[in-house]
Amino acid sequence: MRSQQEQLYAAYHDPVLYERENDVLFAHSWVNTGSASRMAGPGDAIPVTVAGLPLILLRDENWCIRGFHNVCRHRGARVLRAPCQGEKLLHCAYHGWAYGMDGGLRGTPHWKTGDRSAPADFDPQHYGLEPVRVAVWLDQVFVNIDGKAPKFEQFVAPLTSRWQSYDLSRFSLGQQRTLTADANWKFVIENYLDTYHLPMVHPQLGDVAAARRFTDVNIDDTVFGICYTTGAADKPKSSGQHLRQFDRLSDAQQVSQDILALYPNTLIELQPRHMMMVAIEPDGPARCTEHLNFYFIDEDATDPKLADERQRTAEAWCEIMNQDIEVLEDLQAAAHSPTASRASDISPVWEQGTAAFRSRVARALLDQE
Ligand code: FES
Ligand SMILES: [Fe+2]
Repeated sequence: MRSQQEQLYAAYHDPVLYERENDVLFAHSWVNTGSASRMAGPGDAIPVTVAGLPLILLRDENWCIRGFHNVCRHRGARVLRAPCQGEKLLHCAYHGWAYGMDGGLRGTPHWKTGDRSAPADFDPQHYGLEPVRVAVWLDQVFVNIDGKAPKFEQFVAPLTSRWQSYDLSRFSLGQQRTLTADANWKFVIENYLDTYHLPMVHPQLGDVAAARRFTDVNIDDTVFGICYTTGAADKPKSSGQHLRQFDRLSDAQQVSQDILALYPNTLIELQPRHMMMVAIEPDGPARCTEHLNFYFIDEDATDPKLADERQRTAEAWCEIMNQDIEVLEDLQAAAHSPTASRASDISPVWEQGTAAFRSRVARALLDQE
């Protein structure tokens, strides 16, 4: 019988616990699936997986993002295999049932009550694609599978209130990157919140004193991380200095850098010139994909003269994330060893974001919420 500590540690590598995590953690939460830009226009749709379940995300004719279970209501086949653009109907490849962009069932070839090819009481109204709850915030598409998570506005309230002086509506997408790591998704988040490794793994970010210039930011068991109080000024490599910055920020905000995780699977960097949002997509217990999206203010997101600046911002972060992936894969390579679950306590100074995130996950997995 595993101790509680061993059981929690097994969640970094054990396929059975990975399934459980999908059921008790991801299905109950607001999960970030990445940028809405993947559905640029009406009729664009993409298949995604959340909590292990196949879903369709699409933009309807009113430009609203909607979500449905990617499961045909005839015999349960996946409907959407690959991204598509500008469609009016989604067709199931098995027997041709067709669904509108509102999820409604529009076509059932050779299946009619009149000639008894359909059951006598068949009513297409009852066989639309099953909807899932969706919210779009700062271009990120969030999904709540069980429909029981708190209202989305309530969920993100700790951040909207923290960032009141930033006019976040001025941000537009300027760069995107995708990275994969042979590591459990939780290692990625915990590492993002760990300031201890910075001088060791990312020497380009400065010395130990620079790594230590932060305050902890842990709010409402939903937001975890740190604020580098002079991060936006200390780390010019990570932000193009020719990009415009928000006005109306306090003196402190003009040089600060938030490095935060929004539970369960979003990483955020916010500073006066740009924002990075990363959706971490688990892909089994020992692998995940990092969807990096970079946002810039007003025309700076698209101005061709600033293309190099935007690219530098994204590349500086990719350098950091790739350096991290090497150590994340070291964590994963040892995660199944019983010795890993007996590792030391974490630092009361350097790793409090990591500790807070870990205990939040532990509560979800041990069913104590
Ligand atoms: S399973 Fe989709 S049409 Fe039959
Ligand atoms: Fe790192």
